[in-house]
Amino acid sequence: MLNHITVLLKETIESLNIKPDGIYVDATFGFGGHSKEILKKLNKNGLLIAFDHDQSVDPKLFVEFEQENFKFINENFNTLDLYLNKMGINKIDGIIFDFGISSMQIDNKDRGFSYMQDGNLDMRMDRRIEITAKYILNEYSHDNLLRIFRDYGDINKPHLFSNFIIKNRPYNSTFDLVKITDLWFKNSKSHSAKKAFQALRIEVNNEVNNIRDTLEKTIDFLKKGSRLVAISFHSLEDKVVKKFIKKYSEDHSDKKIPLINQKITLKRINRKPIRPSSHELSANSRSHSAIMRVAEKL
Ligand SMILES: C[S@@+](CC[C@H](N)C(=O)[O-])C[C@H]1O[C@@H](n2cnc3c(N)ncnc32)[C@H](O)[C@@H]1O
Repeated sequence: MLNHITVLLKETIESLNIKPDGIYVDATFGFGGHSKEILKKLNKNGLLIAFDHDQSVDPKLFVEFEQENFKFINENFNTLDLYLNKMGINKIDGIIFDFGISSMQIDNKDRGFSYMQDGNLDMRMDRRIEITAKYILNEYSHDNLLRIFRDYGDINKPHLFSNFIIKNRPYNSTFDLVKITDLWFKNSKSHSAKKAFQALRIEVNNEVNNIRDTLEKTIDFLKKGSRLVAISFHSLEDKVVKKFIKKYSEDHSDKKIPLINQKITLKRINRKPIRPSSHELSANSRSHSAIMRVAEKL
């Protein structure tokens, strides 16, 4: 639990341009690293609403969150519109998304996120959802396995890999899968199971669709001048964020297929995405793949 180091903390807080009496959303609370710093900048008229869909995440573990101007919602961030509406909030001053999994999730072998430890083939961040990695590996059709290994894992020859996965059923633990990826990706430079684990995790948690849908839901809640900050850890996440910002920040009227009713409503802050400093890279290995994009509502 103490191993979690918040990624791009200073850069996030600077980018959010926090107003002391503003309303902010931390869509991915985790250990509350970003939330703690946001709260420090708010006065008693400000409000921070944090989401996390993992039932083992608990802000009550930290005294910093025993404040009237902090609300925690133990739900998927894709319910953000429902909860904000319920709270009578129609505009916010900023939002941060720090996608992916926390150290607490990866370090607990029973959660099944790590290929370095033998554990349950689970991979659910929200344990209320029914589908697990074990179900996918043992029950999915060839076509469905092919889809996830190709689209979410970027695995070479995904049809052949899917055949191999099916041939070697059943799978009961993470190491059952690692044994198979070790055989299939004998000469891989990175860990043989990295791509297969990524594909399974994205499918189990419906990660790409949740990000895409929630970014779209967020746009109407953003007040003029408010900022959206998104930290991604792999190219699929980043692609969704990049496409979303591009969609709302570029004039598409002269394109062959103009977007219907498209209006420029976002301004990209920073031409190039922000990456961790060399100091952060050396202090936190998890930050290596982090890539941050910031947009401002016009
Ligand atoms: C990288 S961690 C966030 C760490 C946090 N920023 C900190 O500094 O402590 C990502 C967190 O987001 C949560 N998460 C991922 N996808 C989510 C979703 N769709 N809805 C709600 N929470 C989500 C995960 O459960 C995890 O706790």
